[in-house]
Amino acid sequence: MIYKNSPLPIYYQLEEAIKKAIHTHQLMPGEMIPSEREYTEKYKISRMTVRQAITNLVNDGYLYRQRGIGTFVTHQKIVQPLQGLTSFSEDMLARGLEPSTRVISLSEIKAELDLAAKLEVEAGTPILELKRVRLADHLPMSLETAYLSKVLSGGLTEEMAFSSIYSHAEKTFGLKIQFGRQSIEASVAQKIEAEMLEVAEGAPVLRIERISRLETNKPFEVAKSVYRADRYQLTIDMERER
Ligand code: GLP
Repeated sequence: MIYKNSPLPIYYQLEEAIKKAIHTHQLMPGEMIPSEREYTEKYKISRMTVRQAITNLVNDGYLYRQRGIGTFVTHQKIVQPLQGLTSFSEDMLARGLEPSTRVISLSEIKAELDLAAKLEVEAGTPILELKRVRLADHLPMSLETAYLSKVLSGGLTEEMAFSSIYSHAEKTFGLKIQFGRQSIEASVAQKIEAEMLEVAEGAPVLRIERISRLETNKPFEVAKSVYRADRYQLTIDMERER
């Protein structure tokens, strides 16, 4: 209900009504909300007021707009701790989400200087390049390009790449992935990335580069990933140094 005589502004009341519909699951994540016109007619309020309420909810992250289509309820973000070296599949399963993968390509390339240095191989050494879209409950979360040393992961097949490569490395190849270093940068999705991640070109993303190493300290992978910023929140526990 919207009370016209209430001291609370009408746009605020509508915001609260939409938030309530989200919290009580009348509007589900990913669902398109009614149009501005429908709200206008339902509550007998002006279109400007409806627009203001919706814009506020978009700015607060409750809703997102898809140009030319409509406004949708945002999916809850994955809260990802930065401590611990885990795989995508482990992360999603731990949250009760179903991980899946679209393999875009698995090919052999020659390591150029920068990659070779990171993988600690000679420049020009053949390495594997694996490009995948990772999904949780069928929704694209990230686009990952992993560069893997052939000596360690030469047996990796496309079929294996549809599931967890960490699990295959450990169970099939007997490797022990132990250490990792990750860097995270804010960025925007380029055209092709946007298509694969099913977001608008220019949508906010996080570029994450990970180098993971075996217990012997040998680099196992250099992974360059593009994560949807609307799907991830990264957290870290801190302790004050005394
Ligand atoms: C994360 C990391 C990647 C790693 C992947 C392995 O997403 N950012 O660097 O390649 O996990 O995931 P999985 O074992 O599910 O293939």
